[in-house]
This record gives sequence, C-alpha cells and structure tokens, in this order.
Amino acid sequence: MTINKDVERVLLSSEEIAAGVKEAAKWLDSRFAGTTPIAVSVLKGSVVFFCDLLRAMNTPVQMDFMTVSSYGASTVSSGVPKIVMDLSQSPHGRDVLLVEDIVDSGRSLEKMRDLILGRGAKSFTAVTLLDKPSRRKVDIKADYSCFEIENEFIIGYGLDYNQCYRNLPYIGVLKRSVYEKQDENK
Ligand code: PRP
Repeated sequence: MTINKDVERVLLSSEEIAAGVKEAAKWLDSRFAGTTPIAVSVLKGSVVFFCDLLRAMNTPVQMDFMTVSSYGASTVSSGVPKIVMDLSQSPHGRDVLLVEDIVDSGRSLEKMRDLILGRGAKSFTAVTLLDKPSRRKVDIKADYSCFEIENEFIIGYGLDYNQCYRNLPYIGVLKRSVYEKQDENK
C-alpha cells in the first residue's frame, strides 16, 4: 500500500479498522436486538465509518444525517459546535444510534445528545471510531469506542485536514510541517 506523502506514520491500518468495526457491529447488534433504530451519521467525518459499520450490522436501521461543525479550518476545536444541517425526521419515540468518527472535547456529542433526547427520542446510543479522552472538556463518553488514541493530529478514513485526506483507507498521523505551514498563513 502506498502511504500519502503528508503522513508521518500509520496509526491504524485498514485491517485494524475493519476488525474494530466488526466488534462494534457485534456489540450494537446485541444492544439493538428487536428494534429498528435511526442511525445518524455526523457529517462529514463519520461517513466512511458509518457506511462500513452499518453494513457489518445485522440490525435493520434507518439512515439519517446531521452536520455539526466544530473545527472550521484549523486543527483545534473552536469550542462552539453548530448544527449546520439537521435530521430529516423527528427522533420522537425512536431509538437513535449516533455514529461519530471522533470524540475530542465532547462538545459535539453533548450537543447532539441533548438535542435528540430533548426532542423525545426513546433512547440515545453513541458509537465512535476514535476517542481522545485527554482532550475532554465536558464529562461525556460514547457508549462504545473502537479505539482510544493519544492527542495527535490524525487524518484518513473520514477525518480531514482542510477537507483533504478523508478518503485514505487508513488513519495516519499528519506531518506537523503540513499544518504548521498552513496555520502560519492564516
Ligand atoms: C469533528 C468530528 C466530531 C467533532 C468532535 O467534526 O467529526 O463531530 O469534531 O469534536 P468535539 O468532541 O471537540 O466536539 P468537525 O467539526 O471537524 O467536522 P467534520 O466531521 O466535517 O470533519
């Protein structure tokens, strides 16, 4: 496999990710047995994980999408998550499975949990591919995290820097020279 020139090292290979996705799907199938949840992808970062996760699950699900933005074009969270695109249906009385790529400060997850439960969802479950507990600003945790990681700037498998690298099939650590150079120009 060719590694992108801006990647310092591969943190999680596509094989490791696939194994993590399979485990998560098994856990979710058992949690949602006998139900048809609304699975919500938090765009754009979670979309790659969402597609793989849902296809690894046996539970029938409905799909929906939401866009919450917290990073803008920088490498640090602005601290104010904004709902840019809302769900297409009401979660009232429904089991909701929120799918995130990463939980960092936890503010986006908190905002979505409060919003969805506030609209009368029957239950709220959050699954994340990656968890960065060292960066947490609010006391919240996904119900299931595939991988706990250190505080490094990572890209690939949905995660971006300046909207690039989302289609890398692995998760890599971005070379500092890439974002230091660009952030200096802001
Ligand atoms: C990222 C990620 C989460 C959120 C996590 O989204 O997808 O939604 O930040 O950060 P938090 O825990 O500090 O709130 P981002 O705003 O970068 O948009 P994107 O998914 O389009 O990349």
